[in-house]
Amino acid sequence: MNAAARSAPLQRYDVARIRADFPVLSTTVRGKRLAFLDTAASAQRPLAVIEAVDRYERSSHANVHRGVYQLSQKATDAFEGARTRVQRFLNAASERECIFTRGTTEAINLVAQSWARSRLGPGDEILITWMEHHANIVPWQMVCQQTGATLKVAPIDRNGELRLDAFEALLSPRTRLVAFTLVSNALGTVLPAARIIAAARRAGALVLVDAAQAVPHQKVDVQALDCDFLAFSAHKLYGPTGIGVLWGREAVLRDMPPWQGGGDMILTVSFECTTYNTLPYKFEAGTPNISGAIGLAAAIDYLEGLGIERVHAHEQALLRQATAALTAIPGLTIVGQAAHKAAVISFTLDGVHPHDLGTILDAEGVAVRAGHHCAMPVMEFFDVAATVRASFGCYSDEADLAQLVAALGHAREVFG
Ligand code: ALA
Repeated sequence: MNAAARSAPLQRYDVARIRADFPVLSTTVRGKRLAFLDTAASAQRPLAVIEAVDRYERSSHANVHRGVYQLSQKATDAFEGARTRVQRFLNAASERECIFTRGTTEAINLVAQSWARSRLGPGDEILITWMEHHANIVPWQMVCQQTGATLKVAPIDRNGELRLDAFEALLSPRTRLVAFTLVSNALGTVLPAARIIAAARRAGALVLVDAAQAVPHQKVDVQALDCDFLAFSAHKLYGPTGIGVLWGREAVLRDMPPWQGGGDMILTVSFECTTYNTLPYKFEAGTPNISGAIGLAAAIDYLEGLGIERVHAHEQALLRQATAALTAIPGLTIVGQAAHKAAVISFTLDGVHPHDLGTILDAEGVAVRAGHHCAMPVMEFFDVAATVRASFGCYSDEADLAQLVAALGHAREVFG
């Protein structure tokens, strides 16, 4: 099947057909069928993405924004076309608001080192939540050390939900920025973005949304959200690693200083005075990840071809089945029982260390993440060193779930 036929709208959600788009899913692991349940760490790539990157590498590569020759113009058109694709995906007002970064982590560091470092001082506060990924904690700790600002943390409850009353009580005229994740990578909790953002606005704070775990599962519209910054990574969205996006409101980005210096981010350079490029190039020093951007655009085409709402419905059905099946296993505790969750289940099994459990599951062909999921404060809150996390994507199916449940049964036998 060619890429065009593969991306034609599906009449119904045909998971077998979708799985055929992902070459790795037909491979075996230790002689067993691969049940890939670590999509929250990094999603697999469909052929449409692999082929788009391959086509670019074979026939269109040259540096962008620099060449007068045709090949460079072709590469520039493809790269800037990818930016336009991102702009439409996020419903951003303009391409100027869409900055390519290495991923979510770099996007958040950009805001910390450009916006926050140049503006904050003693007495200013940044408010985050207890369920942030380290990428939405550490950059703020660093900039607080640099500026004398204070980092505040809104607590969560035993279900893994944000305590909105406590969050709102922590907001004050000193709060300059609220930074929160739309979906928790460790617990799957979907945070109440509208309420958080409205409260932040009332306090006069800017808002950064970490959408890394959200964009693969739900429509994300930056204008509807009414935030100021939003970050995501391509590799969680069925695209390549090493590429992501910082979206920022143009009026805010325009006033921010560059954070890295180099080629492409300047208009003129002399030893006396350097002037900076316009948006978005002011924040894109050096040769960018051109093939990554092209792969990201292909991934967006692929996901929107499936229909994000239909992917969401499929994943939610699997999540309900998985929650019921895992709840029935004696000694298994699901960590994170929020009312609204994305397709992520973290759990522990009595008497088995999560790393040992991950290894036993691997022997059965089941790929899960075991560890602290780059969210050590969440582990500390639930008083566990680590959890095992199963996460689903557009290609996950009931056979993956059955394989997980059978492998957990085997683990219980091994550990008596
Ligand atoms: N942030 C990625 C995860 O949740 C790596 O696994």
